[in-house]
Amino acid sequence: ETADIGVVGLAVMGANLARNLVSHGYSVAVYNRSYSRTEKLMADHGHEGTFIPSSDIADFVASLSRPRVAIILVQAGAPTDAVIDQLAEHMEEGDIIVDCGNAHFKDTIRREAAIQARGLHFVGAGISGGEEGALEGPSIMPGGTPESYERVGPMLEKISAHVDGEPCCTYIGADGAGHFVKMVHNGIEYADMQLIAEAYDLLRKGLGDTPEQIADIFESWMETELNSYLIEITAEVLRQYDAETGKPLVDVIVDAASQKGTGAWTVQTALELGVPVTGIGEATFARGLSSSPLQRGASAPLESHALSIEVEDRDEFIEQVRQALYASKIVAYSQGFDLIQAAADFYGWEIDKGELAKIWRAGCIIRAIFLNDITDAYRANPDLPLLMADEHFAPKINACIPSLRQIVSRGALTAIPLPAFSSSLAYFDGVRADRLPAALIQGQRDFFGAHTYLRVDNEGVYHTEWSGDRTESRWD
Ligand code: 6PG
Repeated sequence: ETADIGVVGLAVMGANLARNLVSHGYSVAVYNRSYSRTEKLMADHGHEGTFIPSSDIADFVASLSRPRVAIILVQAGAPTDAVIDQLAEHMEEGDIIVDCGNAHFKDTIRREAAIQARGLHFVGAGISGGEEGALEGPSIMPGGTPESYERVGPMLEKISAHVDGEPCCTYIGADGAGHFVKMVHNGIEYADMQLIAEAYDLLRKGLGDTPEQIADIFESWMETELNSYLIEITAEVLRQYDAETGKPLVDVIVDAASQKGTGAWTVQTALELGVPVTGIGEATFARGLSSSPLQRGASAPLESHALSIEVEDRDEFIEQVRQALYASKIVAYSQGFDLIQAAADFYGWEIDKGELAKIWRAGCIIRAIFLNDITDAYRANPDLPLLMADEHFAPKINACIPSLRQIVSRGALTAIPLPAFSSSLAYFDGVRADRLPAALIQGQRDFFGAHTYLRVDNEGVYHTEWSGDRTESRWD
């Protein structure tokens, strides 16, 4: 008997993905470097369907029906390269390796080229939804050749989450496109989480409420356009009490946020492509600041001159925070989709942004009602240059901007740090400004480095003789 598909790497994600596949009727070959993990999967879940375990990678490859499809879910970096090499050694022309790990898209581009050269196919598939998603239906973002998608797409679509009968899995684009959009997904996830955290901080300090009371507020926001998985779990986390101390759990967790790197990758890529993803950037830096014990510990000599926060109208304040969150969220997603377009242009991917928003509606961490609107916006205009200015979003963000201004200024006056809220507002004001002080920067650049400038009233490239008689000359 041969298996329909194989899974290499049986830590929680890999094991759950294999279980998801068998639960959909596929026979699944499984392999793990240490066989004990394979044995554990078989002992605990072997009865759930047809697993074909192997303790040897050659046997594993031999147990797959051709053209073979092997999903790998191992640690990003060197371990992934090692597994790819081992598989490729035993595979034959036309076989397909699917990397479902959180690989950097540039590694995926490199691996795809190397694998193609060996006559095999490589699919870099981003996968989101955590352990539960892997088991019950994740959002899957596969990149690679359209031919390999023909072979693996139907299986991945079947095991993905579904919305109204539609799978949360679609072909994204060539080579690294799938892992690239997964990376941006994570960047947006960082921004979303930071915005929610800032909203929580404001509510807690402004209202003096308990975490449990704030959980009620977040829960009520589930009835609004903010309805999303991250808002939902925020309420759950805030409701949790610590068994040991009886305190709210959020008060006994150390306030230092970790990161495994995908947020930073997103920001690095954005810097390379020159796309301002300020929401993601601030969110990533805020995690860095929270995890800087040296600097935080050394800050005692600094005075904040903070005013105390006084909230007169409770409901009004809550609504202002909600609107500030919504406006900033639109900005963060708008920036994230700009980055996707810029990368698509640079790397030659044809990414359908409306389809992408659609497969993020379920299964993944940033799943939200809101994504329907993004799909509609790109359906109506696939070349939309600025998502937040779309005819659907513009009135919504416009209506929320006064609240964002109020909230950002309140945070500034009362020393509540709001990096993501404030940078969203600065981006909004910057992008819609008729004229930016960038003109002065151009003047400065020309002054010290003869870097030249353009004129508003004439064609051509100009330089002023700053160190001489200050006459202007045309340099092109
Ligand atoms: C997902 C998550 C997943 C993981 C993040 C967390 O989409 O399922 O994004 O990929 O939980 O990598 O990243 P940090 O550890 O950097 O917060």
